[in-house]
Amino acid sequence: KTIPKYVNELVIPPVFKPIVATDPSNDKILSHNYTIFETTLKQQILPKCFPKTLVFGYEGIIEDGSCFSSTPGPTFEAIRGVPVNVQWVNNLTEPHFLPVDPTLHWANPNNMPTPEPPFLPFPPGYPLAQSPIPVTTHLHGGEVRSDSDGGPDSWFTAGEQQTGPDFLKSRYTYPNKQQPTTLWYHSHALGITRLNVVAGLAGFYLLRDPNNPIEPLLPSGPFEVPIVIQDRSFNKDGSLLFPNVGVNYEVHPYWVNDFLGNTIMVNGKVWPNFDVKRRQYRFRVLNGSNSRFYNLKLSNGQSFIQIGSDGGFLPFPVTLTEVLIAPAERVDILVDFSMVCPGTKIIVTNDAIAPFPGGDPPDPDTTGQIMQFTVLNTPSVPAMPLPPILNEIPTLVPDVPKKILTLNVVLNDKGPLELLLDGQKWASPISELPIVGSTVEWEIPNLTRATHPIHIHLIQFQIVNRQLFDSDKYLEDWLSINGEPPLQHPTIPLPVEPYLIGGIIEPDLNEQGWKDTIRMNPNEITRIRLRFTPQDIPSEDSKPGVNLFPFDPTFGPGYVWHCHIIDHEDNEMMRPMKVVSCPI
Ligand code: C2O
Ligand code: CU
Repeated sequence: KTIPKYVNELVIPPVFKPIVATDPSNDKILSHNYTIFETTLKQQILPKCFPKTLVFGYEGIIEDGSCFSSTPGPTFEAIRGVPVNVQWVNNLTEPHFLPVDPTLHWANPNNMPTPEPPFLPFPPGYPLAQSPIPVTTHLHGGEVRSDSDGGPDSWFTAGEQQTGPDFLKSRYTYPNKQQPTTLWYHSHALGITRLNVVAGLAGFYLLRDPNNPIEPLLPSGPFEVPIVIQDRSFNKDGSLLFPNVGVNYEVHPYWVNDFLGNTIMVNGKVWPNFDVKRRQYRFRVLNGSNSRFYNLKLSNGQSFIQIGSDGGFLPFPVTLTEVLIAPAERVDILVDFSMVCPGTKIIVTNDAIAPFPGGDPPDPDTTGQIMQFTVLNTPSVPAMPLPPILNEIPTLVPDVPKKILTLNVVLNDKGPLELLLDGQKWASPISELPIVGSTVEWEIPNLTRATHPIHIHLIQFQIVNRQLFDSDKYLEDWLSINGEPPLQHPTIPLPVEPYLIGGIIEPDLNEQGWKDTIRMNPNEITRIRLRFTPQDIPSEDSKPGVNLFPFDPTFGPGYVWHCHIIDHEDNEMMRPMKVVSCPI
């Protein structure tokens, strides 16, 4: 039977309550401390006439003092300048209910040998892969020391019985020195992230700055709403459905290159309705999907204002009638319902091709719809005017040689086998060794047919521009000097200049702020500038070799950069990155 839309009401995730540590001598707040559990629960995701769905979620004490678990997990409300400490506890003791593919390079807590074909069907698949469940939690977009970054090899199983090669601790510290913005936390264990996130392990982390002049002008309280959009598929019994036959099942029995659900879930409910008053709202929208992009519009044609992106406020407000959002990107938008007639129902629609580009448009009856606003009969409250400047974004000037890093796909006649950054696998020696304080330009030719949202840990970066290039010719010449990937060594860089077609493509207006995830389109090179310095430092103060972070970024297991199509990330499209104090 089909799932009725807009019978669920939107749920706003509750907020975790911290234990506040204060300095006894002056009552100054020292930190906010939490203990958070990964747990299994049943949640009413589908409308009430359907069964509940077994999911993974996060559990902890929420504001009313009760213990609560859900997917998305409860929200962290963090204050700039107040460090947050979280003791993460893995309480996942049952086997994974989604098919763990043991042929990928993955956490593999039981050191199970990689199975050979013919593979077993799932279920049951491989019990030694299904249990125990490795997790690690990454604060996406957070400026943190690497032993608190939740990198892919820092995983641990329930009771910390087994731990990954990079595991140092499970109590993480988030300094919260960066600009106020919409961050999110999610599971990140090697080769199993796509399953743990689909199962439910993600939530919001809102960082606020009491001294920011913009925040008081914005809708707050019940008028500020985080929105995470995730596509899901369900079995008839209400359980989550994930493909258990791989695209290249003779090599990877269960892995698919792009998981696409046929149902839209918002804040852990499918196709919710949200009753709004006739006033302005602030929506912090996160694409928490594995592979699906969304191009969002309001069905009444109304425009909205984007004020923030991944890493903070945009330099200026941008008025839009549609916004494209790739997996892991965030958009902070203001929608004004004050002039909408009471009783109006407005659908948030989606017309992004899936996967993006190259596939089919979404079905207008299912994945073409996200949620509904019902405008209540309340007095019209006019919106506060916004200042023309929201944020000063420093210009990043490279002070070390640029890098050329490719995006590759390895194919056989059945389809993708794996995806690669710089032609290398996850396990190849580290080749990205940025110097603390340095600013580097990465020029990234996309040699695949897909758009990849590329995410870099530790820093917020900037997009410089994009440019069309002859990717077929470039790939041919690249292969002739480098050989067939995967390579065991860094790529011999092939300059892009002879292959460029046409002029520079400026970033979209809503990409001109701080980004931690950026779309890299096929047939284009994308140029980004990365500065290994805290976000707020003036350009002239950032110098190679000078550490201005409030911690040592060279300490610990290091960081990663990867595609945030999680199905790609889980199959080699991720590389280590280690910050160094001087060139080596
Ligand atoms: Cu949102 Cu490395 O991840
Ligand atoms: Cu990708």
